[in-house]
Amino acid sequence: MTRVTPAPAHRIQVVAHRGSSEDAPEHTLAAYRKAIEDGADALECDVRLTADGHLVCVHDRRVNRTSNGRGAVSALELADLAALDFGSWKDAAESPDWKDPSLTSVLTLERLLELVADAGRRVELAVETKHPTRWAGQVEERLLALLGRFGLAAPASPEESPVRIMSFSARSLHRVAEAAPRIPTVYLTQFATPRVREGRLPAGVRAAGPGIRIVRSHPGIVARLHEAGHQVHVWTVDEPADVELCMRLGVEAIITNRPGQVLSQLGRR
Ligand code: G3P
Ligand code: CA
Repeated sequence: MTRVTPAPAHRIQVVAHRGSSEDAPEHTLAAYRKAIEDGADALECDVRLTADGHLVCVHDRRVNRTSNGRGAVSALELADLAALDFGSWKDAAESPDWKDPSLTSVLTLERLLELVADAGRRVELAVETKHPTRWAGQVEERLLALLGRFGLAAPASPEESPVRIMSFSARSLHRVAEAAPRIPTVYLTQFATPRVREGRLPAGVRAAGPGIRIVRSHPGIVARLHEAGHQVHVWTVDEPADVELCMRLGVEAIITNRPGQVLSQLGRR
């Protein structure tokens, strides 16, 4: 594997996308524990509200792909989700942990925050609000209330905040900025729209989160976003050539399903 020298200006942050999700079932305790063991600087997770108002870490609108159940997260209560197996869809032959319900049942954001608090080192959290418009502010409200319980809703400054909130929804990020102005926000985009190409993000947003495909096809976008004063956090960067590209362009964060491999490529493991 090619090793590259990190840009001297900053240490690129390696963010585990849904945990170490190439090696373990995404969004489970097994995947996040593995990411912490792998040395990830930060953990990415998607959050959705259950029918009874709990924030759970699930990517898809429905649980069909990643569990043995069926139905929309928003139509199920936490107790319904807790009865499902979120591990066996991944090849269970690879690890006995994925059959252990304590590691592969539905993960609440609260449990993930506890894991991070107990990590024994600084591990940051990048929380993505999924389809927040459906809930008219409830996702952000409950998210900030939960962060408040962990003492994370009012950091001294955005730079010191161990938590950031990401979304494809500018409205969701605006709600966060209004209620918790010192929590940094990341505007995700999978399209190189004219505004993004010009470095123009929604007001108050700290970082852009372009998909790697945009960065490959429009590498100049990174410099433009930097000139406009934004950090750049790229997803989902799994291929060594893409890691090299991100390093060359000086992005601040790489969001990857393979944090261990990326850290090895960066010479940090
Ligand atoms: O980290 C951003 C990335 O996760 C956005 O895409 O579909 O994987 O949530 P998705
Ligand atoms: Ca995500």
